[in-house]
Amino acid sequence: MAIQWSGLSPELLLRLDRASGQPLRSQLEAGLRESIRTGRLAAGERLPSSRGLAHELGVSRGLVQECYAQLLSEGYLISRTGSATMVAPGAQSSAARPAHARPPDRPLIADFRSGVPDLASFPRTDWAWATREACASATTADLDYGDPRGSGPLREVLAGYLRRVRAADADRGRLIVCTGFAQGVILVLQALARAGLRRAAFEDPGYGTTETSEVLRAVGAKGLECVPVPVDDLGIDVDALAASGAQVVVVTPAHQAPTGVVLAARRRHALVDWARSTGGYVIEDDYDSEFRYDREPVGVLQGLAPAQVFTIGTASKALAPAVRLGWILAPPDLADAVAAEKLISDRGSSTLDQLALAALLESGRYDRHLRRMRAVYAARRARLVTALGHHAPAVRLTGLAAGFHAVAHLPDGADELGIVAAAAGRQVGLYGMSEFRASGAPDPPQLVLGFGNTGERAIEPGIAAVADLLA
Ligand SMILES: Cc1ncc(COP(=O)(O)O)c(C=O)c1O
Repeated sequence: MAIQWSGLSPELLLRLDRASGQPLRSQLEAGLRESIRTGRLAAGERLPSSRGLAHELGVSRGLVQECYAQLLSEGYLISRTGSATMVAPGAQSSAARPAHARPPDRPLIADFRSGVPDLASFPRTDWAWATREACASATTADLDYGDPRGSGPLREVLAGYLRRVRAADADRGRLIVCTGFAQGVILVLQALARAGLRRAAFEDPGYGTTETSEVLRAVGAKGLECVPVPVDDLGIDVDALAASGAQVVVVTPAHQAPTGVVLAARRRHALVDWARSTGGYVIEDDYDSEFRYDREPVGVLQGLAPAQVFTIGTASKALAPAVRLGWILAPPDLADAVAAEKLISDRGSSTLDQLALAALLESGRYDRHLRRMRAVYAARRARLVTALGHHAPAVRLTGLAAGFHAVAHLPDGADELGIVAAAAGRQVGLYGMSEFRASGAPDPPQLVLGFGNTGERAIEPGIAAVADLLA
């Protein structure tokens, strides 16, 4: 987007080399042309006034006016009487145009991408209210670099929320605010690697080849070996975990991502026993536990073993990924180590955003939004079940009890990759389980159907458009 400056003259970084022997006017002209060609100055962007630029560069105003006149005659700039000189539309070379300026692809009938909440339902009015509250209530000291663990008021409110809603053993001293699960898991694994741990286990299927797995690979590069451990209908296989030799495991007990199963009670206890008996750690990814439809959500695993379990929560599902706020609840003797990693990483998350989230939680607006969204997702889930029952009755759906994705089991021998590609050709976004498997294998053929950000009215036409592929 071109910046439209009102009143203030825009700043523009251009360098003149007085030792080069090249005339200043041709240097300035070349610098401006280059900035326009490469997109540093976008079409429609206003140039500084000739007086302002002359002052900045220590040259005469007449020299700048001559340069502007030359570029006006070459078509790089436009100027109307009484208004500022601007970069002409189309002055940029097409090669320099940013990728987002390309014409959009044809819109999809339905996109069943998982992991995204309903972005259109983001509570904009509440967030705007909370942001104003945060600006009004922040002290001058709050605007300084703060405690890398995060804002005291947010950690206080979050600790209460986690005790109340997730049955966590929480206090603000063990909470570290981060930018979401992606950062949280890195901070924890880095702290554990520094403490001497060498092998980390992950659920399979799990992060597979998704973006999160890139994050995990980055951690692998820091000296932690990553090993996959299988998941079945009861959640992670704890015997296989024990046999893997891992010292820490990352799990999604409340709603396994992506199979959708809930970690069975006996496995929960076995996992905690494994951690206690080996001195190992569990990192609990509590990403969408607010959304459970069949009964009350089970509490966090951390409540059973606070000395062994790190719980990482995120606002990405309850609000939107763009909020970039999450939290780590750490065992007492490791909270400082995680806070030290946060300090090294970025000195702490935005205090103003943290205060806004605290205001949202404290005012009850966060809970109200969750209640509203449960009804939205439940309706979408029902639509998906009905649409599949009607158009593709051979497809079995599992993992529907929580969150906003489910697994569609395709008939034996179905070509998962071929179906995903054919659906894309019909403007329907489908995603295969192979993306989530450590091996990348498309067998057994399954689809992970997200319905969080799929409009309710798009679900039925989307399934209808690919029904013959699923049969
Ligand atoms: C399994 C899982 N956990 C956590 C997250 C949230 O990550 P973040 O908090 O970094 O947005 C995602 C995002 O898609 C996810 O799929």
